[in-house]
Amino acid sequence: MCGIIGYSGERSACSVCLTALANLEYRGYDSAGVALWEGDTVQVIKAQGRLSCLRERLGQGHGASRCGIGHTRWATHGSPTDINSHPHRQGRVTLVHNGIIENYLELRAELETLGYRFVSETDSEIAAALIDSCYVRSGSPLEAIGAAMERLEGSYAFAILFDGEPGVVYGVRKGSPLIAAVDDTGCFLASDLPAVLGYTREHYLLGEGEVVRGEGTQVCFWDRELRPLSKKRITAEWSMEEAQKGGYDYFMLKEIHEQPRALRDTVLPRLRDGLPDFTADGLPEGFFRNIRKLNIAACGTALYCGMVGKALIERLARIPVEVDMASELRYRNPILGENEAAVIISQSGETADSLAALRLFKERGIPVIAIVNVVGSSIAREADYCLYTYAGPEIAVASTKAYSVQVAMMYLLAILAAGDKGVEEAARRSETADLLRVISLTPRVLEMYDQIGRYAATLRDAHSLFYIGRGLDYSLAMEGALKLKEISYIHCEAYAAGELKHGTISLITEGTPVIALATQADLLPKTLSNIREVKARGARVLLVTMEGLPVDDTACDEKIVLPAVDGRFAPLLLVIALQIIALNAAIVRGCDVDKPRNLAKSVTVE
Ligand code: G6P
Repeated sequence: MCGIIGYSGERSACSVCLTALANLEYRGYDSAGVALWEGDTVQVIKAQGRLSCLRERLGQGHGASRCGIGHTRWATHGSPTDINSHPHRQGRVTLVHNGIIENYLELRAELETLGYRFVSETDSEIAAALIDSCYVRSGSPLEAIGAAMERLEGSYAFAILFDGEPGVVYGVRKGSPLIAAVDDTGCFLASDLPAVLGYTREHYLLGEGEVVRGEGTQVCFWDRELRPLSKKRITAEWSMEEAQKGGYDYFMLKEIHEQPRALRDTVLPRLRDGLPDFTADGLPEGFFRNIRKLNIAACGTALYCGMVGKALIERLARIPVEVDMASELRYRNPILGENEAAVIISQSGETADSLAALRLFKERGIPVIAIVNVVGSSIAREADYCLYTYAGPEIAVASTKAYSVQVAMMYLLAILAAGDKGVEEAARRSETADLLRVISLTPRVLEMYDQIGRYAATLRDAHSLFYIGRGLDYSLAMEGALKLKEISYIHCEAYAAGELKHGTISLITEGTPVIALATQADLLPKTLSNIREVKARGARVLLVTMEGLPVDDTACDEKIVLPAVDGRFAPLLLVIALQIIALNAAIVRGCDVDKPRNLAKSVTVE
């Protein structure tokens, strides 16, 4: 949801901004812009469209500036035009913003009475005017930021230039992410690490309401009451190579191939003596012993992981699990009781609705476990216990490896909880061994890339497609459908195979593509009957199943047969096949695989 960057130092600020914005483009790509200190003035250059449009507008000039800010936008308020692009300038303040100012209309009316005039439809321009009005009064950037914070409602991370302090960049955050980083040439403010990994791994995480001032290599911090703050410098574990395509045509393709590694990195450190162990993550031993109900909340792909988690935990540990879309949970006043716990799943750790769900659980006294990929993110910091997944940076908007490692975490938690609930050790050991075995089989699905890709090529002209499955296959159908929709723009619905006949089957006509997932041995006869029902109505069926399951070829038109594992572990193999289908469908349809239209990877607004 918008990426921001700021730089002050010896390098060309313009080139730092452009490099960083290229690495932040996955956060939004409706428009881009920079503001650069040039001589005694701040120059603003911005352009609707991808970063390349801004590059074109900048041409060869602007290389001399040593301080500036930049922005890549995912439009919230106002369409993606030049005028609505950031940076925004009002009076003596120029800023870039990530987030949403909720009371912007009220502020706008108030600022208009002070003589401010607005050219854009954005909430961000109002914030610039508000900060300027405070700056006029106090003459101090720091005090102006502090006073503006008192008035701003909603979420924000700002990078700000103040006329009167050339070469200095200020930042502040509340509800949206912001880091400060340093190398031996100067300092950077950025929405996240991949923006600056090409320069440095040394960074500071800003807490809620904290303010930073950067001038060359000098960075100072203040807390929300504007008291000076000393912060710990952190060295990032992620490297620049990890955040680049590394020879692959698409980030998504690279990230699909990284799954065997990501799964090993996430699971192996959590095993002790053949069983899951989270004590190094700080999760107390016996955590689940008295837990009577678990509440999982997440969004998008992470939500579908939660659904897999529900099936696994309920089956093995017999703890009831409720799964909620975070955006719904927060407004439905959930019934929560004693001896309950919550699990928030989020790749970015910044999703606004998931963060709000976390806060709701905490307010209601429910301990929260977060499963998060981005170290130091808001959800990671606010949860009672954070279990990091080690997928490495995920850049493609469509989530792949992050989902797989989240699912692996669900297996580990299910086995751990089963132990706390008295399930025998031998059974838990065998589950853990099966998990390791399925991870070792993931490269075999990657080897089927061409075969799966050939099927996907047949979807080039598809308008509508159905994914069907039962049990765990249904949860995977939802993830497969989401992947396909988001990057190939084919209308796609996931249906529980048994539910299809209650309405949706009327949409099946001659040639309608249906992808049927059938990896659950106990449900196979039922699923096969449902497949026959759609086939009888003309559907063109791709069956995705597993070696050793008795399916007869007349049930389908095409078949993908995954390596044999117990159905409980099928999700980790199945999802790779579904990702490959979505990727290749998007490629043959000429879509922008890594940056699908209208989407952003990190959704820091409601
Ligand atoms: C966005 C992304 C999805 C992602 C969801 C949740 O919608 O496009 O790929 O699954 O946010 O993100 P999170 O970072 O919380 O996992």
